[in-house]
Amino acid sequence: AALKQALAKQLKEQDAVLVAHYYTDPDIQDLALETGGCVGDSLEMARFGQEHTASTVLVAGVGFMAESAKILSPEKRVLAVHDEATCSLDLGCAPEDFKQFCAAHPDREVVVYANTSAAVKAQADWVVTSSIALDIVRHLHAQGKKILWAPDRHLGSYIQKQTGADMLLWQGSCLVHDEFKADGLKAVMSEHPDAQVLVHPESPASVVALANVVGSTTQLLRAAINHSADTFIVATDQGILHAMRQQAPGKTFLAAPTAGESATCKSCAYCPWMALNSLEALRQRLSQPGPGIQVASDLREGARRSLQRMMDFAA
Ligand code: MLT
Repeated sequence: AALKQALAKQLKEQDAVLVAHYYTDPDIQDLALETGGCVGDSLEMARFGQEHTASTVLVAGVGFMAESAKILSPEKRVLAVHDEATCSLDLGCAPEDFKQFCAAHPDREVVVYANTSAAVKAQADWVVTSSIALDIVRHLHAQGKKILWAPDRHLGSYIQKQTGADMLLWQGSCLVHDEFKADGLKAVMSEHPDAQVLVHPESPASVVALANVVGSTTQLLRAAINHSADTFIVATDQGILHAMRQQAPGKTFLAAPTAGESATCKSCAYCPWMALNSLEALRQRLSQPGPGIQVASDLREGARRSLQRMMDFAA
């Protein structure tokens, strides 16, 4: 509690607002809310950081989220809580390889997930997050556009099935969601036959097929709040359970099992990079903030265009 109070004071002194993802540590999420910041998905984080008047945006999440905040607010100082927090989807989509993929399919509209580097975003026509991907692809499909999609293959194939759009998929995956297994989920479902199954579409198709609700973190959270069921089985990073338990008190939330399940780790669905966002890491960042995230100017303009297109579509 003393550390949290000290951090709240430092945030204020440095005119900094804390913007945290649902997958971060509960202490970080609580501190963000207690100090006038936000907890949300990557789209909400981007929007909040862009609109807030603080001169420094402190991003508790992974690298691409801080980079997007800087691209959208170049005049602000943007700090990441931890510089090494990255994302397997981003790592699995190298800009040079992606350039060749795009060049081989010039007839396709290039749609990339927010979980990519600025260098990949700069090559895209559109950036999307999981909460708006379906709407944007539906919109493009209605215009008769063929799509090149990157990097998450599970999310891409889910959207392809939902919209019927012609989509060529990059073969990336999220190391957390890729681990959910249909057999394990079926076993938990048979123990809790009345539970609603909430699944993130970065999960394999066999897991998505068992869901009552498929959606982004914000959409799953909304389902947890609004549905009359008492029990929910949740297949996404377990960081989301904190907000679910806070906003839907009295309900029971169970972790969907992963392949890595063991005696010490019932659900291993925790992103190791999100876990770097601790109060201690935040303390160190605030004591030595430095200049913050920099994005090369040649990439910034292209990435800003495709990101801003999503923000305008969402508005
Ligand atoms: C995001 O957009 O933040 C991630 O895809 C996770 C989610 O919110 O669904």
